[in-house]
Amino acid sequence: MLKPLFLLGLLGLILSFYLSDIYYSFQRILNLNSNKQGPNYLFTSEELATFDGTNGMFLYLSIMGQVYNVTDGLKHYGVGEPYHFFVGKDATRHFITGDFENEYSRDDVDDLDQNQLRSLNNWLKFYKSTYKRVGKLMGRYFDEFGRLTPYAREIKKLIKEAEKSEESNQTDKRKFPPCNIEWDAVKGSRVWCTNKSGGIERTWAGKPRQYYEAGSKSFRCACISEENKGLGTIKEYSGCDSDSDSCFIKT
Ligand code: HEM
Ligand SMILES: *[C@@H]1O[C@H](CO)[C@@H](O)[C@H](O)[C@H]1NC(C)=O
Ligand SMILES: *[C@@H]1O[C@H](CO)[C@@H](O)[C@H](O)[C@H]1NC(C)=O
Ligand SMILES: *[C@@H]1O[C@H](CO)[C@@H](O)[C@H](O)[C@H]1NC(C)=O
Repeated sequence: MLKPLFLLGLLGLILSFYLSDIYYSFQRILNLNSNKQGPNYLFTSEELATFDGTNGMFLYLSIMGQVYNVTDGLKHYGVGEPYHFFVGKDATRHFITGDFENEYSRDDVDDLDQNQLRSLNNWLKFYKSTYKRVGKLMGRYFDEFGRLTPYAREIKKLIKEAEKSEESNQTDKRKFPPCNIEWDAVKGSRVWCTNKSGGIERTWAGKPRQYYEAGSKSFRCACISEENKGLGTIKEYSGCDSDSDSCFIKT
C-alpha cells in the first residue's frame, strides 16, 4: 500500500526536476535567439568581452554576474578612461581591491571580510539603481540556465550576514557609546564620557565603564546610561569612583 505511493511521489519529484530544467532550457533558447538583451539574457564571457568599447559597441560590465549597460558612463568606462578596466568582463573582486591596472581580473570574493562584503553590496546597489541590467553572465554566479550558482547563493548569504552584523553593531554602539580616550606618558590613560563621545549624539553622557560585548572576553570602554548600569556585561574601573565622569586607568 505504501510502496506505490512512495514510487509515485518519487516519480513526481524526478518529473518536477526535469520540468524545471526543460523550462530553463526553453527560456535559454528564447534568450539566446533574441538579440534584444533583457535582464535575463545570458552572456558568455566571450560575448561580454565584445562590449568593452574598443569596436564602437556599447559598454557593458558585469558585477557578481549581473551585466549592466554602462554606456552612459562613457567618461568613466570608455577607452583610456580611469575605469575602462571594468568593462567587457566581470571583475567583481576589483571593486573592493581597487587595482585597475592589472591585465588579469578576478571575480571571486569568498574570502572578503564583513566590511568588504558590505562595500560590495553598495556597488551592487549602485549599479542596480544607476544603470540598466541587460543580462546575466554564465560563469561563477549564473549557470547555463541563468540560475544562481551555489557559489552566488553563498556570497549572497555572507552579504546578508555582514549587513545584519553591521546593524546590530550600530544598535549596540548607540546603546553603549564608546568613551573618549586620551593618553599621557606620566598620568597614563584617561577615559571619559560626553553627550557626543564615540560620535554618538545623545541627550545623556553616561559613566565610563568596562563593557564586555556578547561572546567576548575583552572589554571596551563604553558610556553607560543610568538605565543600563546594572547589566552583567558591565564592570566598573577599579580605583574609579562610581559617580565619576572620568577615570584614570593603569596600563
Ligand atoms: C576601490 C577603489 C575604487 C573603485 C572600485 C572605484 C570605482 C569607481 C567607479 C566604477 C566609478 C564610476 C561610477 C559610475 O558609473 O558613475 C567611479 C567614479 C569616481 N571615482 Fe572611483 N573608485 C575607487 C576609488 C576612487 C578614489 C580613491 C578616488 C579619488 C581619488 C575616486 C574618484 C572617483 C570620482 C571623482 C568619480 C566620479 C567621477 C564623475 O562622476 O565624474 N575613486 N569610481
Ligand atoms: C545601452 O545604453 C545606450 C546609451 O544609453 C543605449 O543607446 C542602448 O540602447 C542601450 N542598450 C540596451 C540593450 O539597453
Ligand atoms: C561587528 O562587531 C564585531 C565585534 O566587534 C566584529 O567582529 C564585526 O566584524 C563587526 N561587524 C561589522 C560588519 O563590522
Ligand atoms: C550636550 O551637552 C551640552 C553641554 O553640556 C548641551 O548644551 C547640549 O544641549 C547637549 N546635547 C544634547 C543633544 O543633549
